[in-house]
Amino acid sequence: MAHQDSLIANDIEAYLNAQEHKSLLRFITCGSVDDGKSTLIGRLLYESKLIFEDQLASLEADSKKMGTQGEQIDFALLVDGLAAEREQGITIDVAYRFFSTEKRKFIVADTPGHEQYTRNMATGASTADLAVVMIDARKGVLTQTRRHSYIVSLLGIRDVVLCVNKMDLIGYDRASFEAIRDEYLAFASSLGIERVTAIPVSALAGDNVIEQSARTDWYHGPTLMAHLESVPVRGLDTQAPFRMPVQWVSRPNLDFRGFAGLIASGTVKPGDRVKALPSGRESSITRIVTQDGDLERAQAGQAVTLTLADEIDISRGAVIAEASAPPEAADQFQVHLIWMDENAMLPGRPYILKSGTVQAGATITRPKHKINVNTLEELAAQTLELNEIGVCNISLDRDIAFEPYKANRALGSFILIDRLTNRTVGAGMIDFALRRASNIHVQALDIDKNARAQSKGQKPVVLWFTGLSGAGKSTIANILEQRLHALGKHTALLDGDNVRHGLNRDLGFTDADRVENIRRVAEVSKLMVEAGLITLVSFISPFRSERAMARAMVEAEEFIEIHVDTPLDVAEKRDVKGLYAKARRGEIKNFTGIDSPYEPPETPEIRVNTAQMSAEEAAEAILKQLRERGILESAGV
Ligand code: ADX
Repeated sequence: MAHQDSLIANDIEAYLNAQEHKSLLRFITCGSVDDGKSTLIGRLLYESKLIFEDQLASLEADSKKMGTQGEQIDFALLVDGLAAEREQGITIDVAYRFFSTEKRKFIVADTPGHEQYTRNMATGASTADLAVVMIDARKGVLTQTRRHSYIVSLLGIRDVVLCVNKMDLIGYDRASFEAIRDEYLAFASSLGIERVTAIPVSALAGDNVIEQSARTDWYHGPTLMAHLESVPVRGLDTQAPFRMPVQWVSRPNLDFRGFAGLIASGTVKPGDRVKALPSGRESSITRIVTQDGDLERAQAGQAVTLTLADEIDISRGAVIAEASAPPEAADQFQVHLIWMDENAMLPGRPYILKSGTVQAGATITRPKHKINVNTLEELAAQTLELNEIGVCNISLDRDIAFEPYKANRALGSFILIDRLTNRTVGAGMIDFALRRASNIHVQALDIDKNARAQSKGQKPVVLWFTGLSGAGKSTIANILEQRLHALGKHTALLDGDNVRHGLNRDLGFTDADRVENIRRVAEVSKLMVEAGLITLVSFISPFRSERAMARAMVEAEEFIEIHVDTPLDVAEKRDVKGLYAKARRGEIKNFTGIDSPYEPPETPEIRVNTAQMSAEEAAEAILKQLRERGILESAGV
């Protein structure tokens, strides 16, 4: 493959031209730790001679220093660029490598094999045409192999290369290779993976990677490189209807308003009728603007700025689509979800969904089942733990334009982000929209919150008490309600212990149940504010996320968070209900402050500490602050 060097040296134009016209194959590698992925990729890169001289020199030095392969070059070092990887001996992030041969260009996403890092694999796989699944010939098909293959099939990759590696360590034994191949083929066909090519290789010794190996004379299939060079590439979908998610609105001056984005599918030309979603407004294309001037036509994969004939309202996250075949817009979906966070998924918790350029608030309303990746059985599930894959219903706070993942990868995939930690906690694929709620419209009412509040002569508000069990929330709320009542105010009090006897009788104290407990109470407190009431809510409400959700349900000035900030040792010493003692003895599980977390508010509107004042004083202090905030009239009125 010295052709590249001589071409680059003699005719750079010809070289670049040749590069541009070669097809591009994107593939991923997946396998368990130590299956030899990095070694394999390193060898592909090395053999295609795209390692620069200085890199090669440092590689040789590194190999000697690390001493992993004696005097030989350790190809894994080439790929495992990250310091953390070297230290831990595992690959921890997606590393994209570019290389090319005479026939084709390649982008390979090297994805991690460690159990914990399924997330990176899903990231790497979402743009790939083909997956190389690595298996250690001594170990055969593992749970990891099955999980990765399941994700590969979920992500719509149709071509799999099964690399049965380390053949040198099993004496190039044909029977072992064929047994692994057959077991894998049976599993892959149950997943609907269309094409599997099994190749016996030794990444370390080089057998069947580039050159056909004499040591496997019983194998008559292609080498890995020959297969990668010849497998058909799917390419971008130019046949499908036109869709472009809007990345930003370009408004350099008053005369120009364009919508910039990457065309996800189809083609577009000036004059085409288009529809913007989710608004549903129509217009037609006037110009296709690029840095190199206007285009007569653009297609999937191109980044362009479109201008429209009409002034219609389009913002980031909208999709501009062919008017005669637009995608749908919906706010509820059934999805396949891969959970990627150490903390289990919590139904009812508000997450952020990002799909392409769009972002929306999302809650998982119902996990339907999870999937046993070994047997493909559907198991009942309340939640999804790290690396688990399941089918769930998901509900968004607004409509988004979408297509099922099977029809369009770009418009059908999404990630979920935790609102507080900002971590990506899940990745998913839309199966279909749920139509149930779309027939239900918000009913306009003639008597509104203001009218109801006015007739009561007060400002409705939620006074949200949070704090440990035994901190004094209920006692203070009770005194405060008496004071408000005496002032002629119309109030309601929602107390954890009481509500748990009725509306929330079905809930216990797992994280998931607490999330649901607070979600319902937040909904109820919203209704009470709508009714014009001053609503006192007294729940431990241990999680910031759900308190933020309750806050977001009403107007900003209608939510007052009151932290009854009493230290654990004080609450435990009081132990009015004897529950702390029971929890310490292990008779009650998941007790807040003992073996279940409490996340104190960072910036509550009001904070009181009952270790330093009586409940009466605390209620008085709160009353004073409510007056200062203008929620109650000043004293004496
Ligand atoms: S929350 O965490 O879901 O907001 P909530 O305020 O409804 O809790 O209920 C807390 C009350 O339930 C406590 O005051 C206590 O009396 C009782 N309780 C029983 N078991 C537990 C437990 N494991 N953790 C906390 N409180 C418990």
